[in-house]
Amino acid sequence: MRKKLIAGNWKMYKTTSEAVALVEEIKKGAAGAPSDILVAPPATSLVAAVAAAKGSPVAVASQNMHFEKEGAFTGEVSAAMLKDVGCRYVLVGHSERRQLYGESDALVARKFMAAQSQGLLPVLCVGETLEEREGNQTLDVVSRQLEAVLAVSGVASFGTAVIAYEPVWAIGTGRTASPEQAQEVHAMIRAKVAGLDATIGGLVRILYGGSVKASSAQELFAMPDIDGGLVGGASLKADEFARICAGAG
Ligand code: PGA
Repeated sequence: MRKKLIAGNWKMYKTTSEAVALVEEIKKGAAGAPSDILVAPPATSLVAAVAAAKGSPVAVASQNMHFEKEGAFTGEVSAAMLKDVGCRYVLVGHSERRQLYGESDALVARKFMAAQSQGLLPVLCVGETLEEREGNQTLDVVSRQLEAVLAVSGVASFGTAVIAYEPVWAIGTGRTASPEQAQEVHAMIRAKVAGLDATIGGLVRILYGGSVKASSAQELFAMPDIDGGLVGGASLKADEFARICAGAG
């Protein structure tokens, strides 16, 4: 049985003091939650969030990283640096990074590998645009994004990674994929991994992301291959996030 994971992607929201206050609130709800809980604050709040979450079941993720360990890369942060401040996870390949910052499948694969080389657990985000869905390309696009990582990291690497399926058209739009639409893609992802290694295919957690709310979480999380959520907007409010976590039993 895979334990559910609920992750909050705070994007470019929350100052350090706001982040600490939100972690404190989330901790209260996390005590009895049936799922693992993860928060991804902005880079400026990672140190404070790790300190606030210490001793609680709440883990901290970075939203991004560079694939090199160090070097002349102005404005960037490495996996080693994230590990150093106590992050356990890192998001790689979020669609906003792919779309707004031109991150390619190959670049995302390098980040995934670099994260693991430092002992961080990558959360690999994949998902199609509306145009791709309407062109019946969803499964092809998601397969391509997944295969780019499998090709360089190998299937064994998914034993210490998480996958997040996030249809781009559902992110921040209020338009959630139906449980059936999401399940179809999750099942395909799992089958692809399981085709290479049945054990890892059965173990890897596949989160759904895209306008998850307390009102939609329970039916999404009830689908057989949906192992939790990557939640944006609704993770910024402690009570809503707590209700999402509570629905993940
Ligand atoms: P959303 O964002 O829940 O606000 O749609 C999800 C995400 O981008 O991870």
